[in-house]
Amino acid sequence: MGSNDSRAGTMSFINWSDFYRVGVAEIDADHERLAGMINRIHDELYGGANDDRQQRLFAMLSEATRHHFAREESFFDSTHYPAAEHHRRLHADLKQRLDAFQANRRKASDPTVLLAAELAFLRFWLLDHIVKEDKELGAHLNSCGIR
Ligand SMILES: [Fe+2]
Ligand SMILES: [Fe+2]
Repeated sequence: MGSNDSRAGTMSFINWSDFYRVGVAEIDADHERLAGMINRIHDELYGGANDDRQQRLFAMLSEATRHHFAREESFFDSTHYPAAEHHRRLHADLKQRLDAFQANRRKASDPTVLLAAELAFLRFWLLDHIVKEDKELGAHLNSCGIR
């Protein structure tokens, strides 16, 4: 009682919060958008989205992830980021995984189950990567005057 929040009692798959901010506006906006896309795919999946729809949503997420990585990597180059090689390799590993997932999904007997598992992995990967790698990048960019 006492709450006027109509969303009270509902939880998103990813509960976005300021804790995940890295302090660079463009990067934070990308991260929040990626989290929103993962939440949307999760909701549509459990809402019964058909196979075509699932494929289209996942392709959009994959594309947005690539754009986001390219944006961070352009900051590596322009600011001579010392941890660039390691960070770039982590991005490359995830891109490879997204491609492999899309190929495997087409052959899967139950693609919806496979996608649900992949979303759980991506939720973990994104938040873990933001906290471990992107926050370090954010601090470096801030020290270069980029916010
Ligand atoms: Fe990122
Ligand atoms: Fe990153």
